[in-house]
Amino acid sequence: MAAPVDTTTVFLPDTLKGKVAFVTGGGSGICKGIAEALLKHGAKVVIASRSLDRVTKAAEEMAKSTGGECFAVSADVRKPEDVEKAVAQAVEKFGGIDILVNGAAGNFLVPAENMSYNAFRTVIEIDLIGTFNVSKACFPHLKKSKGTILNISATLHYNGTPLQSHASSAKAGVDTLTKVFALEWGPYGIRVNSIAPGPISETAGIERLLPKEYAKGYIRAVPLQRLGSIRDIEHMAVFLASPSGNWISGSNFVVDGGSWLTGNSFQYPDSIERMRKMAKL
Ligand code: NAP
Ligand code: COA
Repeated sequence: MAAPVDTTTVFLPDTLKGKVAFVTGGGSGICKGIAEALLKHGAKVVIASRSLDRVTKAAEEMAKSTGGECFAVSADVRKPEDVEKAVAQAVEKFGGIDILVNGAAGNFLVPAENMSYNAFRTVIEIDLIGTFNVSKACFPHLKKSKGTILNISATLHYNGTPLQSHASSAKAGVDTLTKVFALEWGPYGIRVNSIAPGPISETAGIERLLPKEYAKGYIRAVPLQRLGSIRDIEHMAVFLASPSGNWISGSNFVVDGGSWLTGNSFQYPDSIERMRKMAKL
């Protein structure tokens, strides 16, 4: 069952007025949704990814749809020099950074025995090292603003997800960074949390990771009996970025319809074989 169209507005439109957000991966999918939600609630938003074309188009589109100010910058989160430059551009444009969303990520299905050394390293570099790089570059600005970080994690590593050894390991590291940053930077007034989405319909993640045939069986193992929507994740991001989250730090919020409770263990080990067949691996 697809996620229902959800037009609910939960927060006041000026909830994030005066705030500036820096969103990596904000040109597509879940993080574009988060960027748009931050704009709708009054924040100015900078979106960053490798493709300047993608973020520029997304920024224009979202500025139009929300009436907010959205600025696009290009950066590969694996490259500290790119990241430093993008953060400097953001600060020059909007005067500071209050909210950092670390959403840039890469993932694809591949059995560990067939995964190249470089494939494993690539995903670790984007998801985990990228999260470190961008957080470190934004730190002086977040310290000044007593700002907040939202890391976009996953539930892959709770049980370990077959065919995603790279991303499972990377997101485990991301959750660790959430805790360590919360400990180290809490005394400066910086709150650090993560959101762990379950499978979200109409995203690159779901297209790459959940073959259509396999999805039917998967949904039966989601207690709420549906995939998530981008909107489901946006609400959590606005909640955590707003004063509603003022005493929340070092926490991870699972938004997955309860599916982490059934996890990837359903029908193990046949599920791995079926997934491999359906994904033609
Ligand atoms: P997506 O649309 O593919 O978003 C990933 C974004 O990351 C893209 O905009 C991409 O833009 C950017 N990116 C990739 N490599 C980068 C790099 N080296 N430097 C800078 N930016 C880079 O995927 P999504 O499915 O919405 O996923 C968004 C986030 O949610 C990810 O953190 C993912 O792990 C997490 N998540 C997704 C799901 C799901 O069901 N979709 C479930 C759990 C967690 P460029 O190509 O322009 O760089
Ligand atoms: N299966 C197996 N290996 C794969 C693969 C796949 N589907 N896709 C890439 N790889 C391997 C490549 O072969 C390469 O290894 P090699 O040098 O040993 O051959 C390595 O991974 C790096 O690939 P490359 O295409 O050079 O990396 P990139 O930096 O250009 O792109 C990716 C990064 C691979 C993560 C790319 O899929 C991407 O840009 N993803 C962003 C979108 C995304 O993944 N969204 C979902 C988020 S949940």
